[in-house]
This record gives sequence, C-alpha cells and structure tokens, in this order.
Amino acid sequence: MMNKALPKIWYGGDYNPEQWDEATWSEDIRMFKLAGIDIATINVFAWALNQPSENTYDFSWLDQTIDRLYQNGIYICLATSTAAHPAWMAKRYPDIRRVDFNGRKRAFGGRHNSCPNSLTYQKYAARMADKLAERYHNHPAILVWHVSNEYGGYCYCENCQKQFRVWLKDRYHTIEAVNQAWNTNFWGHTFYDWEEIVVPSGLSEEWENGNNTNFQGMSLDYRRFQSDSLLETYKLERDQIKKYTSTTPVTTNLMGLYPELDYFKWAKEMDIISWDNYPSINTPVSLTAMTHDLMRGLKSGKPFMLMEQTPSQQNWQPFNALKRPGVMRLWSYQAVARGADTVMFFQLRRSRGATEKYHGAVIEHVGHEHTRVFKETAQLGKELNTLSDQIVDARIQAKVAIVFDWENRWAIQLSSGPSVALDYVEEVHKYYDAFYQKNIPVDMIGVDEDLSQYDLVIAPVLYMVKQGHAARLKQFVKDGGTFVTTFFSGIVNENDLVALGGYPGELRDLMGIWSEEIDALEPTHYNEIVFHKTFGSLKGHYNCNLLFDLIHSETAEVLATYGDDFYQGIPVVTKNKFGKGQAYYIASSPDQSFMLDFVDTLRKKLALEVAANAETGVEIIAREKDGKKIFFILNHNAGNATFDLGERELIDQLSGIQYTGESEIQGHDVLILS
Ligand code: GLA
Ligand code: ZN
Repeated sequence: MMNKALPKIWYGGDYNPEQWDEATWSEDIRMFKLAGIDIATINVFAWALNQPSENTYDFSWLDQTIDRLYQNGIYICLATSTAAHPAWMAKRYPDIRRVDFNGRKRAFGGRHNSCPNSLTYQKYAARMADKLAERYHNHPAILVWHVSNEYGGYCYCENCQKQFRVWLKDRYHTIEAVNQAWNTNFWGHTFYDWEEIVVPSGLSEEWENGNNTNFQGMSLDYRRFQSDSLLETYKLERDQIKKYTSTTPVTTNLMGLYPELDYFKWAKEMDIISWDNYPSINTPVSLTAMTHDLMRGLKSGKPFMLMEQTPSQQNWQPFNALKRPGVMRLWSYQAVARGADTVMFFQLRRSRGATEKYHGAVIEHVGHEHTRVFKETAQLGKELNTLSDQIVDARIQAKVAIVFDWENRWAIQLSSGPSVALDYVEEVHKYYDAFYQKNIPVDMIGVDEDLSQYDLVIAPVLYMVKQGHAARLKQFVKDGGTFVTTFFSGIVNENDLVALGGYPGELRDLMGIWSEEIDALEPTHYNEIVFHKTFGSLKGHYNCNLLFDLIHSETAEVLATYGDDFYQGIPVVTKNKFGKGQAYYIASSPDQSFMLDFVDTLRKKLALEVAANAETGVEIIAREKDGKKIFFILNHNAGNATFDLGERELIDQLSGIQYTGESEIQGHDVLILS
C-alpha cells in the first residue's frame, strides 16, 4: 500500500495529547522528529471529549492536534473515538451498557463496553464517524481511518436476545430448522415459538464462561451472531466514512489469535488488516510468526499494518518484562519480514495516571531522549527510512498452507468431550512450528482460499468440515496436491451435527481410512508411533499423546502403527493416493521430533524451498518485489549464531557488507540482505 503522501514504512503509534498540556505537546513534536516518527494514531478514546453532551460536539482539540502534527511532518491514523462510551450516555441510555455472561447489567466503566445491538450505540457511533469524516476527509494529514479499537467481548442483554432471534430467522427461516440444527429433541428442549429462544449464557445453557455448553450448535450460533453484531457496528461507522472518501483506507485493529471474532469474515470488510502484537516474554517466537502469517492470510497475502506493539514492556501481564536490548528492533523486523508495512507502537508518550501508566512508551516518564528505549526507537526509525523502498508492498511466496478457521476453533472449544486438553491453536502451532524451525515459508489460510497456488495444504484438527470444503480439498489432491489432516477431523458439519457413516465423514475417501473410536488420555500419557520401514526421514519410534484415533485403512498405505495399549499395531500414520496427489492422516498428536522428521520428509518429496539453513533460533524469511528478494535474518538467540546462504551472494542493506556461505549473526541482531 505504497502511499503517495508517505511512501515508506510508516513509523509511529498511539498518541494521546488530550492527556497532556501545551508545553508537553511541543516537546512531543521535538522528540517525534528525533525518533523519525511520521504517523500518530489519535482520537482512540476521546468520545467523551468530542461529544460532551447529547447535542454538543467539540472538535477544537482535534483540529489543533491534527494541524500541529501535520505542520510538523507527522501524518495521522485517525480513530473514530467510539471504543469507550461517555459516562453521560451510559447514565441516560442504559441500553448501551452490556449484560455479562452471568446476566449482570454492567454499570458505566471500562472500555470496549457498548452493546453492539444497542440502538443508542449504533446511532451515536455512526453519527460520530459521520461528523469526523465530514470534517477531516479532505485533510491531507489523514492516511488511514481506524474505526473504534480492538473490538471484542460478548453481550447477553435483552436487545441482543431479540436480535439473535432475528439473526436465526435469517439463517434458518423456520423454527423446525433451528430445532434440527441444534438437535433440540435432546433433553426435550424443542422450541415452538421464536420467543422461547433465550441467549446461551451462564443463566441458561452454558457454564464456566462458555467452556461448557449443553447445545453446541446453539452456542456456536451465538458466537457467530456476536461476531457479526460487532462487525455490523464496524460497518456502520465504515460506511459513514466511505460516504466522504473512497481512497483513504479504513481499518480496525485486530488482535491476532483473539478467540471471539471470526477475523476471516471481518477481513472482507476491511481495506487493510492492522493488528496489535503483544507477546509475553515466554511466547514462542514461532507463535508470533504464525500470528503475523495469519494476519497476512486474512487478505490472501496482502501486507498489513503493525498497529501496536510496546517499545519496552506492558502493564497487564503478571510480570511485565522489559524487551531486552535489541529485542524491540528484532520483533519489529519479524513483523516486517512477515508482511507488515508499518511499525507502530502503543504508545508514544507514557501516561501519568490510570491503568496504563506503567505501560512502555517511546517517551518515558523522565521526559527526555536519553533513555535506552528512545535511542533504540530512533535507531530503528533511521533504518526504516533507508529500507522502505525495497520492502513496502513486497510479498511472501509460500508453497505450503496451513488452514485456520475460527468457527472450527469455536466448535472444538465448545465440544463436550473427548478431551479438555485439546487446544486447536496449539495443534495448529505444532505443525506451523516444524516448518518455522526449517525456515520454510507458510501461508496461514482460511477455508475459502484458492488452493491451486500451493503444493502442500495442512488442516490440523479439521473437526468441522464446512459445505464445499471437502470437495475443494479433493480437487486439490486430484490435481496433484498433497494434503495432511489429523485425528478428530471430518467429524461435524457447520451445525456441529456429527457426520454419520464413519469418521472422518466427507474426508473418508480422500484419506482412505475410517476411524472407529477416539481414545482420550491425560496429556502426560504417551503412546508410540512405530515405523516398521523408513519413510523419508521418518524411522523408528516417536511419542504421541492427547487423542488417539483407532483407524482402519481402506485404500491408504499404513506408514506407522501404535506401539502400545490395546490398539498396538493399529495404524497411526497413513498415506493415501488420490488422483495425482496424496493425503496423509496423522491419527494422534505427535512429539516435536516426529514433526521435524515429517516436515523434512515432505520437504524432500515436494522439493519445498527453504529460505536458508540456520542454527536453531535463527528465523529466515524473504519478501519479494519486482522479482527481487530481500532476506530477513533474525537471531532470536541471546548469543551469536550461524546461518548458511550457500552459493548466494547478498549485500547487507544497512552496512553494505557482503554475505555468502556460512556466516555469523550476533545475539538478537537482524540482517537485511538483498
Ligand atoms: C491494546 C489497546 C491499547 C492499549 C494496549 C496496551 O492493544 O488497543 O489501547 O491498551 O493494548 O497494551
Ligand atoms: Zn446486548
């Protein structure tokens, strides 16, 4: 999204001048210039300032802020301020306040706190967006619109209940169809009238915050409905902005692996994906990489905005470790390497009071530029200036895709049995990580993505098979593709109704097996995957745990069998020829050594490209533009490590030094080679 006004990697972040006085504003400008900051996200939580009472609007502070920044060469990511409603509104219009999972009506407080189905909220949020867009759409400072902030949370109020019924009518048309979809003859929960349907909450069909549910079909629909409801409120504001401008992109900041919203559906309504990256000190770097890839996958590989990250520490984790020297730079480049065209922080100046006063910022409480964090920020600002041309709009080429689906995730999480330890994200990450360790690029894709661009598609725990998905997967394999799926796949349809006639349902002929039973044991209990013959890099014994499908091969070749328990000798890894391609079934959750050998086997068989070989902890990935590749070598180790470019001769874009063959990279350092 090379922008004409600011044709570079945008560098900046959240800025809240409304919390400060004039003297501080000029200091801010001086320091932004020192740090190379060229974009500020403003007006995120200023609804109460902008609309002090029902019919008064006052944008004078915003006029001044925008002009002051723009006159000083700083562009604007303009938020719509609707992420927390004003106190007066909550008092006068109780419908705007949410009802929580346990049926308690919320008082005024917090943020991201409005009921999406409140007509008051819809009216005033849309009006605010309208007023802002009318006022600022032509302002040359505005590069992007930022609607609300980190949408999330569910509401269980009367209005939501009413709208849920409307949503259900739209989806199912008749009450009989609802009864069928939810299998309500179970426990005699048959509905005869739409009005009998109540929201599934801690007062009705769910408990333990929705981790236990009686009617999974219903709870699944409630998640879809709440995700859609929030999306509708985003669209309301977006449409107001679009009345005035068709060129300035509109986004809202997503939260990576956030569980509650179906981001693939949201992505369709967004011009550009933006997201907030807050790993904790012990988040595996490969999980962060996977999340970046997922955010890139939301729009089929289009570069995205890194909207927020902390320059140093957070305040909301139990222990808010500082990013070690070099790590802010390292993680910023990790985002850029995986598709970010912006590097932005929360926040530019550290607050004085309230909950985020100990959250890291570019400008710390001391107020001057002589801090470690500021110096690191300024250095990165300089670097990004010199690199921008080669990076902005560059794409990542991957031949491997891993399927990720929020509705499948919800269905697995809602499922009562077979195991509370089954975590969809962990299983997906297990597969992702093995490719990551080998520096093989992966796209994270939704279920609708075009598969013809890939050689290998992996769908870990594809529990829910949506309409048409099985057919697309079969076509992909028929045409020569390789497909991998696992235990607990092909089990239910979109309503969480089980496929009869043997698991994995619609995938049965593709996989060439059927699964008779599923054993679930404590995760500390392991069985064995035994290869009687070597298969690629796979040989001997591996461990597996969690779930154990007891499968029968129909047309598949058995590659390995269980080594233990009453199902010793039963297939655990199979390969089925299907058309010109093949499909692998992994019937249990394997250990990392299996995963690495399995991925290595696939790499050799499919001639998958490795960005470059390196020691553990060195992440390497390339972005490509106009046929030219730019390599990011990211050393996540604290100590020095080696990587091997083979025959390639590449120049470090920052130092000008040439690299070829085996080379060394310092701890937490980054090299950008081209
Ligand atoms: C989120 C929010 C910000 C801020 C940061 C703190 O990402 O969008 O307003 O609260 O968290 O980490
Ligand atoms: Zn509500």
